[in-house]
Amino acid sequence: MKTLLSADDLRTGVVSMADRINRSQAGKPLTVIGVLTGSLVLLADLIRLLDMPSRVGVVQASSYREGIKRGPLTINVELMPKIATRDVLLVDDIFDTGHTLSEVMGLMKRLQPASIRSCVLLRKVGCSQVDVEPDFAAFDIPDVFVVGYGLDYCDAYRNLPYLAALEPGEISRDSE
Ligand code: XMP
Repeated sequence: MKTLLSADDLRTGVVSMADRINRSQAGKPLTVIGVLTGSLVLLADLIRLLDMPSRVGVVQASSYREGIKRGPLTINVELMPKIATRDVLLVDDIFDTGHTLSEVMGLMKRLQPASIRSCVLLRKVGCSQVDVEPDFAAFDIPDVFVVGYGLDYCDAYRNLPYLAALEPGEISRDSE
């Protein structure tokens, strides 16, 4: 495993992204919705850096069922607070192919928020397969499978305080 971003790097990138969100929201109330489970660590750090009145909730979306293989996406909105007429910020860990963000945004738009924007910790360069882009991204990274700071491989490594890229030998053939 190779460290890509240290805990200090992550802090700097998240603070800078929070500043941009604060400036653009200019003190107006915001409903912040984290996409479970990968956004948990970012969500916890980000909401403590936001300076407007905020509500916080979660939505569950899962596509990586095993290892790094993408499965069909399932979205569960049962835990999500009411978003109609509110300014919403969707928070996710990583924008890879973009299918997760695009589908969750599409579903949330149908619930008629006043506005909806998205932010991600990481954007993988050159991997997008959709025509939406996150509104805010803390870091651009190359096309490698990463873990730590909320991101997992087979449910491991979410608790690492830094971000690491798995080496090819650390990824099981079955999960590719
Ligand atoms: P898509 O391809 O839909 O992916 O943009 C979004 C979701 O897939 C997971 N994902 C990853 N998880 N390391 C991880 O631990 C990765 O490199 C990675 N790439 C995608 C993640 O849950 C994300 O929300």
